[in-house]
Amino acid sequence: MYIESVECPTVEFSGRRFLVQSDETLRAILATSASHALVNRQKSLIDVDGLLGLDATPRVDPACEEQRETKRAIEVVARATVALRDSFDAMRDGNLQLGKLGSVADDLSDRIDASPDIFLKVTRLKTKDEGTYVHSLAVSALMMRLARALDYEESAVHELGVAGLLHDVGKLGIPNEILNKTGVLDLEEKRLIRSHPDVGHRLLKELGKVSELTLDICLYHHETLDGSGYPAGLKAARLTPEIRLATVCDVFEALTSARAYKMPWEARDALKWMFDRGHLFDKKLVLRLASVFS
Ligand SMILES: [Fe+2]
Repeated sequence: MYIESVECPTVEFSGRRFLVQSDETLRAILATSASHALVNRQKSLIDVDGLLGLDATPRVDPACEEQRETKRAIEVVARATVALRDSFDAMRDGNLQLGKLGSVADDLSDRIDASPDIFLKVTRLKTKDEGTYVHSLAVSALMMRLARALDYEESAVHELGVAGLLHDVGKLGIPNEILNKTGVLDLEEKRLIRSHPDVGHRLLKELGKVSELTLDICLYHHETLDGSGYPAGLKAARLTPEIRLATVCDVFEALTSARAYKMPWEARDALKWMFDRGHLFDKKLVLRLASVFS
């Protein structure tokens, strides 16, 4: 093996770099008062790890890995935000870029699978102006993660990801001042906000090419099991598992995000709050979502 340094007072070894060529030299080094020596694996002519009984797999420092994953998530979220804004702009001109949205969904899926906690932490860095875009991509990622946990086929996971990206497209026409308003909304502002499922659904229908699943999720993601939601006041029997899944992810994302008018909730508080409201949300889905974060 090739020694880069031996930290000991023995002149024979200290401050020297050399190739150990015999057991005798190795024994002489071990006999010094050195507590450690630096071995150069590349320059060694033998399997140093095997000799020393070490695992050759590089050890992953969890802190470094977290930093790297955070960086990857920041890059993907930033790219996805720009791509989603571009796609929404194109929709205003009558172009639906389904392929582009699909790629965005795939990128998000990779990152939330790598670390749901880091991914969501990164989406919390959104600015007010990016609110709807980042909310949509966070909901999309959560929907894909939850669908995968429920063993949906990959094609269905992908479709749900695209539906998540488009579910709030109807908010495009609502001024940010209203979306971010800190005070109480007046009747007209409330009506405008509650119109976004219908507006989005109409837009997507006009564009064509959008799946029934995406249209349903856009129109019904604010419905609740007891019929107290909007716009149609549908009850449980009319709400498909996919619509319920979108609702659970949408509400969880909204609760755990900071908004101009509220502080973010901890994930466990949001999940408990939702679980305690089984008349509104599908408890089984809330529990399964909780398992993603445990
Ligand atoms: Fe919405």
